[in-house]
Amino acid sequence: MAAPKPTSVVPRHVAIIMDGNGRWAAAHSLPRHAGHRAGLKSVRSAIETCAKAGVEVLTLFAFSSENWRRPRDEVSLLMSLFLEALDREINDLHKNGIKVRFIGDLTQLSTALQGRMRDAEDLTRGNARLTVLIAMAYGGRWDLTQAAAALARQCVAGTLAPDQIDEVRLGQELALKGLPDPDLFIRTGGDQRISNFLLWNLAYTELYFCDALWPDFDDAELQRALGQFASRERRFGLTSEQRARAAE
Ligand code: FPP
Repeated sequence: MAAPKPTSVVPRHVAIIMDGNGRWAAAHSLPRHAGHRAGLKSVRSAIETCAKAGVEVLTLFAFSSENWRRPRDEVSLLMSLFLEALDREINDLHKNGIKVRFIGDLTQLSTALQGRMRDAEDLTRGNARLTVLIAMAYGGRWDLTQAAAALARQCVAGTLAPDQIDEVRLGQELALKGLPDPDLFIRTGGDQRISNFLLWNLAYTELYFCDALWPDFDDAELQRALGQFASRERRFGLTSEQRARAAE
């Protein structure tokens, strides 16, 4: 494994599980979809805060491979909301220098949504301020499985020998290929689990759990998470002394 870089105070990559929309709606005597709609405000706020703080990549878990099992009405409302949000926000994101990309088993989504996602990626490809990765129909196990299948295909084609498979090769087939692993993982809504998010890439990520429901997760909440991150010592399996020497 390559020697880890010295820890930076600002995370290069923040990954978020945006949980608690349904409970927020219930607490306000509103239907669940109103909670997802309210969650969009927090998406905008998180993008703005990360861009200002100098974060390079923000990954948002918008819809998991398991979310397909939710009631059909909720799934279709979520899909309409994604489409509507993309249409409404994409020009503003582009104007602000945000690059938008999607990861996950995108073939599961409607052709209309896939088309809009491709358009959004094409429009913002040249932007360099902050990359926002939206995980849709994504699961960490799906990601590892598709990477294994890609490597197997290369072996069968004779372009790769099984002995050449190492962590770097496998990483190159994962959804986050070419991007740094998350430095900071945030989950709102009070539960403390990873829920099949970026299983491989979270190996050395700092985990931060908070009780705020996603629609209540505002700039101050995110600043608190960034502050916590800045105070943590990351050792990547080394001793404190070794880390200190690596930072010199
Ligand atoms: C989890 O809350 C949230 C989701 C499954 C959907 C998240 C979607 C958004 C915030 C809107 C749009 C996002 C983008 C990037 C366009 P939950 O329903 O599990 O809440 P609960 O745990 O309180 O039931």
